[in-house]
Order: sequence, then C-alpha cells, then structure tokens
Amino acid sequence: MKDFILYAGSSNLPLAHEVAKSLHITLGHVDLTRFADGELRPWIQDDIRDKTVIVLESFSFPMDEHIMEMVLMGDAIRRCAPRAVIAVIPYMGYSRQDKLHRLGEPVSARVIAKFLEVSMFDEIICVDLHNDAIVGFFQIPVMHISALQVLADEIKKMNIQNGVVISPDVGGVKRARNLAYALDLPMVVMEKRRFLDKHDTSETYQIIGDVNDKTAIIIDDIISTGGTTVQAAESLRQAGATSVIALATHGVLAGEAVEKLSHAPIDKIIVTNSIDIIGDKKFDKLHTVSIAPLIANAISTLVR
Ligand code: R5P
Repeated sequence: MKDFILYAGSSNLPLAHEVAKSLHITLGHVDLTRFADGELRPWIQDDIRDKTVIVLESFSFPMDEHIMEMVLMGDAIRRCAPRAVIAVIPYMGYSRQDKLHRLGEPVSARVIAKFLEVSMFDEIICVDLHNDAIVGFFQIPVMHISALQVLADEIKKMNIQNGVVISPDVGGVKRARNLAYALDLPMVVMEKRRFLDKHDTSETYQIIGDVNDKTAIIIDDIISTGGTTVQAAESLRQAGATSVIALATHGVLAGEAVEKLSHAPIDKIIVTNSIDIIGDKKFDKLHTVSIAPLIANAISTLVR
C-alpha cells in the first residue's frame, strides 16, 4: 500500500487517470456533489490520515468552479490529518493577470496563490505558468515544470528541414530561445501589441529576423482565442515562410478559436493535455501530447 493518494477534481479526469496509471495507483474516491442551490460539497471517502495527499485540478473553463473545487477539497483533506497536501495544477487559469495592467484591476494570479495557501496546501506543482514570476506569489514551495521538451520531441519526430522557432511576442522570447536550443534551430521574434480596452485583441507589428523559405515553428504558452497564433501565422506566410506549425502547452481554445485556427495558414497545431479538449473543440489540425509522465515524475520526486 502506497502512503500517498491522488485525487482529481472534475476538470481533467483523463489526465488524472493517466498520471495515476504512470504511478501504478488508482485515483482516490471523492464525492463532488452540489446542494440544490449550486454550492459544492466535496466529501473525501478514504482514510488519508498520515498520508501525502495530492489533488490534480486544471483551472480551465469553468475556471471559477474548478478553483472552488480545488480549495474546498484542500480544506476537506486538511481536516482528515494528512501528512502533507500537494496541489497539481496542469493549467493555472488567471495566470495572465499577473500584474496590475491598469489601476482598478486585480492582480488575479496572486489572489489565486493566496486561495491555495488558505486552503492549506503545502506545496504546488504547476506547468508552464504564463510568467515565471508567479512562483513568487506563493509563500509555499512551487515546483514549476515545463512541457517544452515534450513539445520539442514532437517536432524532432517530424524531421523538419530549414526550420525556425518563432516567439509570437516579446514576452515569449525566453520560451522560444529554450525551444530553439532544444531543436538546434535559429529563433525569430515577433512584436505584438495588445489593447487594454479590448479583451483578447492583439496586432502583430513586425517580424525581427528571417523566415523566408523556412518552416516557422511558433511556440506559445497558451492558445486562447487563437488571435495571436493566427495573426502570427498570416504574417509569417506573407514574409515567405513555406509552412507554419504552432505549439503551445495549454490549449484553452476559447470563443471562436477552433473556427479561426481551422481556416488559418497553419499546417499543424500541437498542444498538451493540460486542459481536457473535448467535443467540438477537437479539430483535424490539432494534435495533443500527454504530460502525464512529466507530472507523474514530478509527484514521484516529492513522495519518494
Ligand atoms: C500572451 O501573452 C500569451 O503568451 C498568449 O500569446 C496569449 O494568451 C494567447 O491568447 P490568444 O490566443 O487569445 O491570442
């Protein structure tokens, strides 16, 4: 009998089952029911006294519900006298609200960090946060892991000739540089501008570097509305790129993303399963790679 146990919220059960399989365990039993008025009432069904308890939940849509699941499960677990409680957050929604963009708005990523602390989690495992600095919002240890190598391995399998790694904005340069190193390819940066008064809207201004006759490999942390990726792809093709591949850790695919990406000059889009992509969010060009082994490995280092 292992002395750790893994629970899953409702956001990403396939990933949780895969992680459990990699760890040679089955998921713990938790009843996630709601009262008639909609309030959540989690109920832990196992004896977890003196065990290390891990809870996996992606803060994907509907993120507010999933965050409440996580924090209420954390509180329920803590009241059962476990040895330690670890939160695994494959996708941390709200992570793009990581600074005071304008006076009168919250720094939401910091609020989420505080929520997790008051729910008495001892440690956090999270994947490709929008900004490394978010780790500093927590006063508990954070293991920040990256899916970059998993995505790089997919590209290596494609045997691309004359490739170039693209950062679709200046904020993503470090990520693109790391991928470029991993693939031994050059890197090009695009300049993107966002508008504070229009949600989810951006414009690509210029491409800094040469993409002519090359396969452009765009790397981003999140594909949300698809606006950034589609605009980058169109600009790259206009600048002479022969094909475009888009990579991202988190396939949020909000709003009209599927429609826009399907019709964009992009040959292939690869995201991880940090978010469970279901139903009409799946489309032909979209391929998903698993981060279950990555997460299982991170858990193993904490529970051994
Ligand atoms: C922004 O800084 C992020 O790294 C992504 O580029 C952005 O969140 C993607 O959003 P969308 O798909 O809506 O353009």
